[in-house]
Amino acid sequence: MSDTRARWRIWTDLPGATISPNLYGHFAEHLGRCIYEGIWVGTDSRIPNQDGFRSDTLEALRALPTPVIRWPGGCFADEYHWEDGIGPRARRRRGRNIWWHAEDSNHFGTDEFLAFSRLVGAEPYISANVGSGSPAEALNWLDYCNGDGTTHYAELRRRNGQVAPYNVRYWGVGNECWGCGGNFTAEEYAGEYRRFATYMRGRDAAIQLVAVGGMGGRTYPADWNNRFLAALGVEKFPRLARLIDHLSIHRYFRGPSDRGFTDAQYYDLAVASLQIEEDLRLTRDVLSYYVGAHKRIGIVVDEWGTWYEQAKNDNGLEQKNTLQDAIIAAATLNVFNRWADWVTMANLAQTINVLQCVIQTAEEKLWLTPTYHAFKLVSAHAGNQLLHDELATPELEVTPADGSGRSTPLPLVSASASRAPDGRGLVLTLVNRHLTDTIECPIELRGEARPDGGIVDQLADTDVRAFNSAAEPDRISPTRREIAADGPELAVALPPHSVTALRLRLG
Ligand code: AHR
Repeated sequence: MSDTRARWRIWTDLPGATISPNLYGHFAEHLGRCIYEGIWVGTDSRIPNQDGFRSDTLEALRALPTPVIRWPGGCFADEYHWEDGIGPRARRRRGRNIWWHAEDSNHFGTDEFLAFSRLVGAEPYISANVGSGSPAEALNWLDYCNGDGTTHYAELRRRNGQVAPYNVRYWGVGNECWGCGGNFTAEEYAGEYRRFATYMRGRDAAIQLVAVGGMGGRTYPADWNNRFLAALGVEKFPRLARLIDHLSIHRYFRGPSDRGFTDAQYYDLAVASLQIEEDLRLTRDVLSYYVGAHKRIGIVVDEWGTWYEQAKNDNGLEQKNTLQDAIIAAATLNVFNRWADWVTMANLAQTINVLQCVIQTAEEKLWLTPTYHAFKLVSAHAGNQLLHDELATPELEVTPADGSGRSTPLPLVSASASRAPDGRGLVLTLVNRHLTDTIECPIELRGEARPDGGIVDQLADTDVRAFNSAAEPDRISPTRREIAADGPELAVALPPHSVTALRLRLG
């Protein structure tokens, strides 16, 4: 049994960094049923579609909203040759998808991705191919997307139907180049990075370049970021700082079972998800050390989410998405908000059907996962200013389910608070990780402004293992109620394993 009372003090007059809407971004790879079926069904499909894009997916992503989407991978990015995916679809060459043991019709290519991004209101983020590609291929891609002159590739884009440049701003220089993206050493990748970034930056000074980082794990070196940044050489040659705008990291929370987990395994996963904050701390420190004197580099968490044993290559990395996933998502998004001065983008893996997605489909049926609802609630912070706060949360001592290792204190409440840029609204989001206890959380608002009411959205259920499906699409969905707040103190009760979002009007 834990102490079931938390306390949260928020200074409404002490705004900090702006929370980038891009913290609520997504990642869509040519993997399993993410792109094909989830997004693209083709114009001849009996599934209702707009120019080949499933209409229900467009509607759900627009409503979320979806600020940014990363494409085409993932591991697929470093085997993808973009010229195979342009021009009349009937004439496109089928290609291999070696990592995910499939073939690709190439019917979803650059123009489809950029049309799709526009239809859902998202900014596109393209990962260029370093592993099996070349700087020339990346430059041509850049020219195809952003060229406004009469070059071969800008004209080719016009002939393919897109007159105005797409002006794609975010470009990743490879993906996981310590692994599927070429198995480079950190030093080799630094050399590749300098080569690619020199020409890409030279071609288009307005783009934002994202370098591949790594946090250590089962298959890649723990000191990658350190070695990569040392070898990049910004310390010695500060002019090189202009080649890098963001460093990416990936973090998957591995769990034994998507819905058959025990209570002890639930708490294990909650503890594992705390790792993201340590990742951010280490990445900030290494960036400050090597580049900080010359430039502020942002941290992009361009793949994150849960990954259970059920998600295998032969089922296209599909897994159930329960209320547990929503709790992990909301708590992780609270961390990103709290790190708003460093985290410039984050992309959940992966938008539809794959891993911790926000949407799942079966033929013509589509439903929203609990994670979708968590994103919807917490993304109310987008564009707001983070507020200074003090959260006193009860903790639970968690001993690993398999009996190994030492126990870890798990903070039971996760939270973040922000203020609208016009100062007229507050957003407060809270997660209670406890499986059985309601946590009372009095909130004290410090500052001149007083709330005069608002709404509370809550995602809760008696069963943390419950999930949505074609048969029960709304098994897990948020409830909404009005609250009459008229003073500096609010009394909030957080049900077991729940997500709560308060949106308060300031008088
Ligand atoms: O998201 C699935 C895979 O996980 C991605 O392709 C790769 O980048 C990561 O290892």
